[in-house]
Amino acid sequence: MKTDELINTATALMTGDKGLLAMDESIATSSKRFEEAGIPTTIEYRRAYREMIVTTPNLGKCISGAILFDETIYQSTKKGVLFIDTLKKAGIIPGIKVDEGTVDMANFPGEKITEGIDGLRQRLEKYYDLGARFTKWRAVIIIGEDSPTKGNIEANMHLLARYAALCQENAIVPIVEPEVVMDGDHSLKKCAKVTGKVLKELFKQLAKQKVDLRGVILKPNMVLPGIKSPKQVGIDKAAKATVECLLKNVPPTIAGVAFLSGGQSPQLATAHLNAMHVKYKGKLPWPLTFSFARAIQQPAMDTWKGLDKNIKAAQKLLYTRASLDNAARRGEYTPEMES
Ligand code: 13P
Repeated sequence: MKTDELINTATALMTGDKGLLAMDESIATSSKRFEEAGIPTTIEYRRAYREMIVTTPNLGKCISGAILFDETIYQSTKKGVLFIDTLKKAGIIPGIKVDEGTVDMANFPGEKITEGIDGLRQRLEKYYDLGARFTKWRAVIIIGEDSPTKGNIEANMHLLARYAALCQENAIVPIVEPEVVMDGDHSLKKCAKVTGKVLKELFKQLAKQKVDLRGVILKPNMVLPGIKSPKQVGIDKAAKATVECLLKNVPPTIAGVAFLSGGQSPQLATAHLNAMHVKYKGKLPWPLTFSFARAIQQPAMDTWKGLDKNIKAAQKLLYTRASLDNAARRGEYTPEMES
């Protein structure tokens, strides 16, 4: 295993006050977001949108790594420069989502399992040759009346560990993403309990598969009540519940933690990250940052609308969002900075 290369990549991804930009929406997810924003759902609009993102001036000042999608990794700007080269030139490490989405899990009604492990070794070799140095695999955990079940958690975490082992074999840093989704009316306490259980199982499986945690990044959900819960909580309470859950279940040796936003508004995701840094300054054993998709991209997408004349304004919003997240990582964000 190329341990030095893995550790160097992971350290570079976690550097300073930077974070990750997830721009790895599958065609289905991207189409859903485009439809909501009134943008045509064609391959050329997806390409143009991603060009708008990767050519955002100064993006490399805020973003250490960008997660691409299979379609995107082969695409270029209008001038013919591969996105992957555009990112590298901006000082951003290219990464790629390698899971192939989720399907219903046999014998576990209402629960999901992630696909994509078959042939992964070969795909990783190809992506490494193309220039990707880190990857992402997302497991989806659903809180319901009778879920998540032990069988579903074990199967998903086992796959995450097998994926991580294959990545490290290829000198690629795996981002392991066990997302406890926000859908539902569950309480903060329930989310904390489930997230804790999932993380415990994840690190058990990673150890069993001999994964070197110094070359792994964890991408967890924040601990929050379900979207439909009547008992929403304040920013500090959610920040505390999140960090306490991580401190209990995430080994100090891991390279870093980078949150997904999960459907929170951009402002709220930023405020939560900020509150964690304010409250736990100097007390965290790992770098704690962001790996947002919607919480960075949404204002830019809504402004772009698929029109060239809106590119500059959209890029400005993208840059602003990312730099506010940098401020949050320093614990220096205030809501007044939004205007
Ligand atoms: P959101 O920040 O929109 O939740 O997306 C993060 C992600 O990468 C989901 O897999």
